[in-house]
Amino acid sequence: MTDQPTQETLANLSREERRFEPPAELAAHANLTAEAYARAEADPEAFWAEQAQRISWAQPYEQVLDWSNPPFAKWFVGGRLNAAYNCVDRHVEAGRGDKVALHFVGEPLGDTRDLTYAQLKDEVSQAANALEELGVEAGDRVAIYLPMIPEAIVAMLACARIGAPHTVVFGGFSADALASRIEDCGAKLVITADGGYRRGAASALKPAVDEALVKLGDEGPVEHVLVVRRTGQDVAWNAKADGGVDVWWHEVVGESSTEHVPQAFDAEHPLYVMYTSGTTGKPKGILHTTGGYLVGASYTHWAVFDLKPETDVYWCTADIGWVTGHSYIVYGPLANGVTQVLYEGTPDSPERGRWWDIIEQHEVSIFYTAPTAIRSFMKQGREIPDARDLSSLRLLGSVGEPINPEAYVWYRSVIGGDRTPVVDTWWQTETGAIMISPLPGVTAGKPGSAMTAIPGVGADVVDDEGRPVPNGSGGLLVLTRPWPSMLRTIWGDDQRFVDTYWSRFKEQGYYFAGDGAKRDDDGDLWVLGRVDDVMNVSGHRLSTTEIESALVSHPKVAEAAVVGAKDEDTGQAVCAFVILRETAGDGGADIVAELRQHVRKEIGPIATPRQVMVVPELPKTRSGKIMRRLLRDVAENREVGDVTTLADASVMNLISSGLGAGKGED
Ligand code: WT7
Repeated sequence: MTDQPTQETLANLSREERRFEPPAELAAHANLTAEAYARAEADPEAFWAEQAQRISWAQPYEQVLDWSNPPFAKWFVGGRLNAAYNCVDRHVEAGRGDKVALHFVGEPLGDTRDLTYAQLKDEVSQAANALEELGVEAGDRVAIYLPMIPEAIVAMLACARIGAPHTVVFGGFSADALASRIEDCGAKLVITADGGYRRGAASALKPAVDEALVKLGDEGPVEHVLVVRRTGQDVAWNAKADGGVDVWWHEVVGESSTEHVPQAFDAEHPLYVMYTSGTTGKPKGILHTTGGYLVGASYTHWAVFDLKPETDVYWCTADIGWVTGHSYIVYGPLANGVTQVLYEGTPDSPERGRWWDIIEQHEVSIFYTAPTAIRSFMKQGREIPDARDLSSLRLLGSVGEPINPEAYVWYRSVIGGDRTPVVDTWWQTETGAIMISPLPGVTAGKPGSAMTAIPGVGADVVDDEGRPVPNGSGGLLVLTRPWPSMLRTIWGDDQRFVDTYWSRFKEQGYYFAGDGAKRDDDGDLWVLGRVDDVMNVSGHRLSTTEIESALVSHPKVAEAAVVGAKDEDTGQAVCAFVILRETAGDGGADIVAELRQHVRKEIGPIATPRQVMVVPELPKTRSGKIMRRLLRDVAENREVGDVTTLADASVMNLISSGLGAGKGED
């Protein structure tokens, strides 16, 4: 255990007195009302069985939950279904084919495209046929590395339709990160684009795929690369002696039939693998399966956002490269038959009011984004959103990191016109769906608190021995019973799955989330952040170890230690301490810029350290473990805490004096 919430943070939080009651109108017609909590608690499996009715099953299940071999769960045992059919075809069959599924908004002004459910069905069917033609079969893995364009959603659903688990890699990740994910799950096909539009320019994607393929070598798993033409940028074309590697999406998908019969798969058939950072250098491939995941995504999207599919226009600003995009752009919203906005670019392109223009233009009623974005808008000033008509909004959501009370109140009052509830939703890649959140028609919201587990979910805050802490105290966040959208394992590594999540509270059978939390005097939950060597930068999870390995792969670096330090804009920021090799001398004048660039290239721009500090020593315990707590003190400009377990107590003086001499931030 590295960090427990300090008494100071706990005390600060308990000073928050503001409460926001649900609007009367919303409460009167809420999808879920207060009785759901007790009903779900009395018989969770019966409650989940009720939620499973939201989904169309090709064959009904025989058992809600098989928990005979924990922590390996099976939900909706014996049931068969097709996820793509549930997200697309069934809405068309029900006569809603002309309803807009996606209002696509490209970053270049005026580059828009609406797709109805009927059109989406045709495109998904074409892509499914094309994938099969390229030799992809049920069970084969497909990597998707695409910008936020409709083809990304079509590609995911086409995979789901033929039972080929997808692994979407965020377009901001480097060629190395892409290659390691392709390799880990053995993807046979990569779906990418020439590029996408970001910050007013075409930004290439295909070269990273080319580079990843070179890294994977001739024996690599990839047989084909399917390339969407988005920007018209030049692309290098790869071919193997025995046939084409690269193929154009518009040629292969565009030429395929729009007829495709979806086959039903077992409820536990793998739907996707999403890589996320853990405490080691190797990312974890989180495996989600079909039935339980779809039930969880659909139920939570309906309950937490109080979704009225007939009238709402929904917009989630996440990227499909993260789990939020999977559950709350693709599977939840589409299973619920909603109309939603899909936006390709950055919030400030071509100018800072772009998001608010989109809300005004499409009359968005439910909006879901991250605290880091809200904080950056706060900085820009309320004049920008105030100049737009945001009166269509009726509900706001937040996800990715704790939302500080100031940001919550600003979000509610400036964006939501003081009308809209804010739902602060806690969940993880592993949980697949929202676990802790207010219910907008029930809960009186407290700025900064995710409040309570939603009906069906069991959450608790416990001490190191797994005993629930009393109200007013802090501890570790756990989930107390299995839930349908839970991860089933880590791809190819059952043991790591058991060790990471289920061994700490084995006796109690709790899922250990890796977050610290507080239960306040009313019993409501405040999530405080990670208690392991994982950082949260702009709502994205990064591993300290992964960045450390990237740094030591640089020829001038002997040793590196990375910590997440508090940051006003991004929640946490990456701060790196490095010891240079003797042969590198002082590293040269540009050493800091050089190392930042190196990490950017190895992992991706989000991992770029805010600070790189060249130091003569690192603080270590006698057993050689780096004491990141002390480095965090330095990075956050605090007085350095208890150093008694250091092997060499003078190290911290060395570091501090070295920094005083001027090496540091660039
Ligand atoms: C970690 C999960 C959930 C999708 C986006 C991130 C932190 C997430 C909240 C919240 C406080 C939050 C936790 C969690 N986190 N939402 N509402 N309040 N913390 O998914 O990359 O799997 O990260 O994000 O630390 O463990 P992820």
